[in-house]
Amino acid sequence: MKKMLLKPAIILFAIIFSAAAAAQAGSGQPGDGKTGILLVTFGTTFPEARAAFDNVEAKIKDAFPDATVNWAYTSEMIRDKMARQGKKVHSPRQAIEEMAGQGVTKIFVQSLHTIAGYEYHDLVKTVRKFQHNPGKVEEITITGPLLAGPEDMAKAARAIRDTLPQARTSDEAVVLLGHGTHHPSNAAYPALMWRLQLADDNIFIGTVEGFPGPDVILAQLEQNNISTAWLMPFMSVAGDHVRNDMAGDGADSWKSILAAADIEAKPVLKGFAEYEAFVDIWVNQLQQAMDQ
Ligand code: CO
Repeated sequence: MKKMLLKPAIILFAIIFSAAAAAQAGSGQPGDGKTGILLVTFGTTFPEARAAFDNVEAKIKDAFPDATVNWAYTSEMIRDKMARQGKKVHSPRQAIEEMAGQGVTKIFVQSLHTIAGYEYHDLVKTVRKFQHNPGKVEEITITGPLLAGPEDMAKAARAIRDTLPQARTSDEAVVLLGHGTHHPSNAAYPALMWRLQLADDNIFIGTVEGFPGPDVILAQLEQNNISTAWLMPFMSVAGDHVRNDMAGDGADSWKSILAAADIEAKPVLKGFAEYEAFVDIWVNQLQQAMDQ
């Protein structure tokens, strides 16, 4: 407060400057600060995993230079953990309210989730509440997740093929590891695997918490006489599940389970949001929403 009182001239200048900028941009035009994108992810506490988020933000800002870009985490557990580290991350509702308070009237909520599971549907509910009771928000739309529909499913399959490790030979398997869920949308994982296997018998999608689990995938690998398998996250960031459940040294990690069956595992510690091919799918979803 004291600091602000000492600098009234700067504040006055800032007000005049932003008023001039607003006048120049005109009301309701791109770049007038009224259009905002809210990127919503489960979240991660791993600083090294956040490279994926930096990549997404850079790509989104590049594609939509006139929109403000904000973040929200759907995981309360992650938000609490971050808060204890002194880093405030908003829930989707808090972020939307903050954006509205800053004069953003047209909000595009982009779900960065992989499938339309519980997290995504909770987000839909939040967005609907604002649609029914908008307050300052004139327009709010939700897009995503990655596997939102058949078209996105085809794009994701292509993105997977485009980002396979270059050193991988065709007799080596690639096991993509998704999160998995008890929500019916878990079906998207085996559906995507089926699509991938139309072109390549040795690509598999397993899950940490859903179907198929390691026993099912291991049986498939053995059936295909696989001796080497690349383990790749099919999660946006390489966080806890990737570093521990996929590539950890514990006896029940995917790496260890494969090793026990004499299959050499080669883990790749990169979330799919670190690859342009995947972020492009989200950029495209946003673009379609804005064009409507
Ligand atoms: Co989990």
